Amino acid sequence: MRAQLIAGNWKLYKNLAETKAFLAVLAGQTQQAPQVEQVLFAQAPLLPLIGEEWQRLGAPGRLAWGPQNLYWEEKGAFTGELSPVLARELGSTYALAGHSERRQFFGETNETAARRALAAHAFGMKAVFCLGESLAERDSGRTMAVLKEQCQPLFAQAREAPEGFCFAYEPVWAIGTGRTATNAQAQEAHAFLRGLVQEAWGAEAAAKTRILYGGSVKPENAKELLAQADVDGALVGGASLDPLSFLAIAAAHKG
Ligand code: PGA
Repeated sequence: MRAQLIAGNWKLYKNLAETKAFLAVLAGQTQQAPQVEQVLFAQAPLLPLIGEEWQRLGAPGRLAWGPQNLYWEEKGAFTGELSPVLARELGSTYALAGHSERRQFFGETNETAARRALAAHAFGMKAVFCLGESLAERDSGRTMAVLKEQCQPLFAQAREAPEGFCFAYEPVWAIGTGRTATNAQAQEAHAFLRGLVQEAWGAEAAAKTRILYGGSVKPENAKELLAQADVDGALVGGASLDPLSFLAIAAAHKG
């Protein structure tokens, strides 16, 4: 049985005071979602604050954190990038890779997304590797072909499953739009992805690998999405900014 993972993607939101306020509420409410693992993907300068505050609050629940992007070199002349060594030093145990906004606005490719995801594992973290089709791709019946293409460089670069590697299926048309994939659409894509993992990394890895769903997840739709057989958690953008709605989604986990 795969333990579910509920991850918040804060994107370019939250300053220092807002981060502290969020954590104070989260720490006060952990009895609502005591068993599920929760992760916050925050802007890099917030990562040490999350670690310090969570300690100060007595680390009352299973909270992990990590960056929204990561470079694959440890150091060098790479202005504007984040070193995986530094991310790890700041207490990160997860890292997001290949988010559609990175692909859309910052030139991320399937190739570079895979390199970033594998760098997380090379430096002691776990990747949440994002992929998903655009509306035009879905409408032209290319969803599964696109998912396959998006995974190819990853499977070419990693012949075996990195321990704890996670995928996040995020249909681009569902991100920040209020339009969620139906339960059946999510389940179909997740089952297909699990099949790709099985082809590349074998049956045991496929059974263990967590595949999160992302795209307008809210407290109102989380329970049904998380109940799908191949949905192993959620990657939540907008609804993760409010600690109570993030907790309500975490509380909808299936165990
Ligand atoms: P959303 O974002 O929940 O606001 O749709 C999801 C994401 O970008 O990961």
